[in-house]
Amino acid sequence: MKPCEHLAIIMDGNGRWAKAQGLPRSAGHLAGADNVRTIAIAANELGVKYLTIYAFSTENWKRSKDEVSYLMKLPAYFFEKYMKEFLDRGFRIRIFGEMDDLPKATAAVLQEAIDESKTNTGLSLNICMNYGSHREILLAAQQYARDVASGKASLDLDEQTFEQYLMTKDIPPVDYLIRTSGEQRISNYLLWQIAYAELCFVKESWPEFTPDVLKRCLEEYNNRDRRFGGVTNE
Ligand code: IPE
Ligand code: IPE
Ligand code: MG
Repeated sequence: MKPCEHLAIIMDGNGRWAKAQGLPRSAGHLAGADNVRTIAIAANELGVKYLTIYAFSTENWKRSKDEVSYLMKLPAYFFEKYMKEFLDRGFRIRIFGEMDDLPKATAAVLQEAIDESKTNTGLSLNICMNYGSHREILLAAQQYARDVASGKASLDLDEQTFEQYLMTKDIPPVDYLIRTSGEQRISNYLLWQIAYAELCFVKESWPEFTPDVLKRCLEEYNNRDRRFGGVTNE
């Protein structure tokens, strides 16, 4: 079985984790941000080439003003603390999501991380920020329609060409999707890209998701039988 090349994670349960310890939700998000660094390093060591994490969805704007504002400040904390180490390790940062709608300072921090790491060839750490799969597919369709209207694209659209319009255009499909904290739903995440992904739902919340849990999940992946609609050769 081919090892997992592209791992996607829905980092869920920060708020409940914090509440269980008598802490504000923001403390859960802070612990969650630190855990991104731990898990990115562990995933890299376990052979993952692309790690795509859900940091803020297009639906998360519904949260309180204070919580949204805290989440928007986390990238500055995160990259200030860890970017040097990521660069030393050869990580490349990509952002999926509409950066134009983020606060200017947040977008600037993210853009700097993209620019500083764009020639790196190690782990691609893809952070989904103001990301929603419906929005991604809709934007792709709009751009394709514009390209047809201007004569840049032909009406014979195939899957490969359509993928070039998605935010994930340069990276392979998701092999494995993990969601933490016991919820069993996709929450508008990478709908096109997970078409044939293996799914894994763990009870641990994101701040509790340790490298050992990741290892256990990847071992489970290695025992899955991915058939892609075919038949396993005995
Ligand atoms: C995941 O944790 C982080 C984000 C969605 C930003 P939550 O904040 O969803 O935590 P719970 O699910 O409320 O516990
Ligand atoms: C999904 O988690 C989004 C992120 C992890 C960023 P949510 O906590 O927002 O998802 P729902 O609302 O429970 O589906
Ligand atoms: Mg949640």
